[in-house]
Amino acid sequence: MKVGILGFGNVAAATIESFLANQDLILAKARVPIELVRIATRTPSRAHGRAPVGCQIGNDPHALVDDPQLDVVIELTGNVPLGRELVLRALEQGKHVITANKALLARDGAQIMACAARAGRRVLFEGAVAVSIPIIKTLREAAAANRIASVVGILNGTSNYVLSQMSEHGADFSTALAEAQRRGYAEADPTLDINGEDAAHKITLLASLAFGVPIDFEQVRFKGISDIEREDIEFAKRLGHQVKLIAQAKRVGGGLVIGVQPTLVPNRSMLAMVGSSMNGIALQGDLLGSAFLYGSGAGGKETSSAVLADLLELANGSESNSATGAYNMGFRDAAPTDAIAEGRPESMDAFYIRLRLDDRAGTLAEVSRVLATAGISAHSLLQDAAQGSLTDLVVITHPVSEERLRHTLPQLRHAAGRDHSVVVLPVLEDCGC
Ligand SMILES: NC(=O)c1ccc[n+]([C@@H]2O[C@H](COP(=O)([O-])OP(=O)(O)OC[C@H]3O[C@@H](n4cnc5c(N)ncnc54)[C@H](OP(=O)(O)O)[C@@H]3O)[C@@H](O)[C@H]2O)c1
Repeated sequence: MKVGILGFGNVAAATIESFLANQDLILAKARVPIELVRIATRTPSRAHGRAPVGCQIGNDPHALVDDPQLDVVIELTGNVPLGRELVLRALEQGKHVITANKALLARDGAQIMACAARAGRRVLFEGAVAVSIPIIKTLREAAAANRIASVVGILNGTSNYVLSQMSEHGADFSTALAEAQRRGYAEADPTLDINGEDAAHKITLLASLAFGVPIDFEQVRFKGISDIEREDIEFAKRLGHQVKLIAQAKRVGGGLVIGVQPTLVPNRSMLAMVGSSMNGIALQGDLLGSAFLYGSGAGGKETSSAVLADLLELANGSESNSATGAYNMGFRDAAPTDAIAEGRPESMDAFYIRLRLDDRAGTLAEVSRVLATAGISAHSLLQDAAQGSLTDLVVITHPVSEERLRHTLPQLRHAAGRDHSVVVLPVLEDCGC
């Protein structure tokens, strides 16, 4: 099986290095020999001296994709428009594709899988989500017979590192982010990590696999961690919770809720124990019950493990697992669906509310009256002096519809007084783990 690699960055370089280091073991497990014969990247000089002997190194990705000797193209450019063009072209030319490009699959997965189905070729992407955790194979194979109720995860290592630093060392957001960059956990431009979009790409792929429908990424709501204040992390801890960037996809009524947002996670949940830059995923299915998977979410070597596993899967033929095209992403009918938009069911969640109030007689009574009138009751409550004449009132509510809470917010702001902030974060309900 002849293989070409597009890009020669962190993941591609590590994939080649890992392949060479474990070649004996990999080839012993493969039904046919695997040869890395061609690399195309923008800066070919990077690959010189690091590629297998005889491997052709060039700078024309289209020529690589068109090369008739190749059976498999591994796309590791990270570029969405270029990646789309090259992946579609490779499939049309009868090549199988391996990619770690979650942004590409989240946005264009349905089109790519439809193309793969027409061509009778496979698109494998274990390296696109939580690299050390075999979540794609788990959903596609091990959990395939289940009706999945929910997939809830910490899917972005950078955000988790920042929140963990804030929680464990009292760091503020920018200091924690600078430390993540210094340690190489965050990109030079960490926007997609911090604003929740990277985790949204990943939960889009997991939702598609879990629920067997193409998911329209434009319908997936996401919010990042840049507004999280140290006070809220401290209050959450005092109330027995950790603040985590939670990505979730769950069935609610007849629809799906899919999104990413900072969320209070109870200390008893295994997700609360996922620290540093690690990832964790809790899965609930009608047959398997609950499962929890934990591991690294990034790193060249870690991603190479997933990419090479996909390569071995292809080398061992499709007889044992004959899924091609659309089914690789969990659905057979590649027609676009608006399962999320259609459903948009009103789920009932508990919420953390912090109100910064004037510390004067009557304010607390007014807030209590607003909450009681809206039918919102408190599960836990604490009050603490803030700066000057202000006080923080923190409430964790019993489950309430988000819409009802949203309608009540203007009255709460009014009760809090002019210029006094109101912070609202959801609280994770039981995810089985
Ligand atoms: N890094 C991780 O931990 C990780 C984990 C999971 C998934 N992934 C995914 O894996 C993919 C690769 O990530 P990476 O970290 O290896 O990225 P990277 O280090 O930025 O490497 C990208 C490579 O693609 C090349 N490239 C980019 N645009 C190109 C173009 N227009 N034409 C030709 N070559 C081009 C780059 O060339 P230059 O060398 O000239 O820049 C570079 O060699 C991404 O989709 C990423 O999301 C990464």
